[in-house]
Amino acid sequence: MTDPVRVAVTGAAGSIGYSLLFRIASGEMLGPDQPLELNLLEIPPQMDALEGVAMELDDCAFPLVQEMNLSDDPAEGFEGANICMLVGGKPRGAGMERKDLVEANGPIFKAQGEAINDNAADDVRVMTVANPCNTNALITMNNAPDVPNERFTAMTRLDLNRSKYQLANKAGVNPGDVSNIAIFGNHSSTMYPDFFDARIDGEPVPEVITDHDWLKNDFIPTIQGRGSAIIDARGASSAASAANAALEHVREWYTETPEDDWVSMAVPSDGSYGIDEDLIFSFPVRCDGNGNYEIVDDLDLNDFSKEKLKATEQELQEERSVVSDLM
Ligand code: NAD
Ligand code: LMR
Repeated sequence: MTDPVRVAVTGAAGSIGYSLLFRIASGEMLGPDQPLELNLLEIPPQMDALEGVAMELDDCAFPLVQEMNLSDDPAEGFEGANICMLVGGKPRGAGMERKDLVEANGPIFKAQGEAINDNAADDVRVMTVANPCNTNALITMNNAPDVPNERFTAMTRLDLNRSKYQLANKAGVNPGDVSNIAIFGNHSSTMYPDFFDARIDGEPVPEVITDHDWLKNDFIPTIQGRGSAIIDARGASSAASAANAALEHVREWYTETPEDDWVSMAVPSDGSYGIDEDLIFSFPVRCDGNGNYEIVDDLDLNDFSKEKLKATEQELQEERSVVSDLM
């Protein structure tokens, strides 16, 4: 019998939580043979709602779920956690940038970093969804000095999926035919979805999609602004697609990435591409199947791409300076 994996999810009574938990519990994240223990974390006013979510999880009778703990105390919520999915936090509304949330959400991650440091399992892996997710991950990492830095990541998988769909739609192919999408930088309107290195059926995207004006002036802003477009249309930020991406982020972190592809995650910079080492920056990465990854550091970026990386790096440096008191 495989040992259970303990997954802690914060914001478990929220919109993303409601799309995420049932898929985790069904085995879609870690596989149909992996038993699970779920730690669901919320804030006190949401504990009744969380009870309701837990009742529904019970009513699914998922065989993989061996234990479920509900808490509004981060120390309890992260106790023994092997995987922490930090979803809890305020979402933005229309007209806001994600970085406008940093003052409201930042302090959450100081407390949660400390609680992860003191209570999580030795092999803990942490992924942050709540915005601004790169900087929240940086705060968490800096408040968990006993946990190796490379265990802290933030989610840009949704941006990867958005890019995949937009490129496939333009080229008239299936999204599954699009590979090698590198999302660089911040999960924000400065993020850089690198289409130069992306491939369609193994061919470079700029050779398949010859409308380069569309790639530069339509595709990039569409991905950068997709979150806002959804808020404007739905009156609330993305939830099901975000949950789907969170699940894929974790699944792929524990899956060996095919040699001819990569995934994108925001991870602590190691200085690749000249990026400031004190940032959580999205890079293309390859995972080894055991919860480890390496940054793909040998893409031959052109001047256009280098300029985009600088802009998103600068935004992350500005976000970092706003929260320096939390680290
Ligand atoms: P939501 O308001 O529906 O739910 C958030 C939940 O978090 C609420 O139930 C709230 O009570 C809970 N929460 C707040 N503070 C908490 C804390 N300290 N501990 C535990 N729980 C806490 O919001 P949502 O739509 O689920 O979005 C959650 C976050 O994810 C937002 O910050 C949103 O901007 C972000 N998001 C990120 C991405 C991404 O691609 N990285 C995508 C979509 C949404
Ligand atoms: C998204 O990209 O959909 C999320 O980050 C939510 C948002 O605020 O845009």
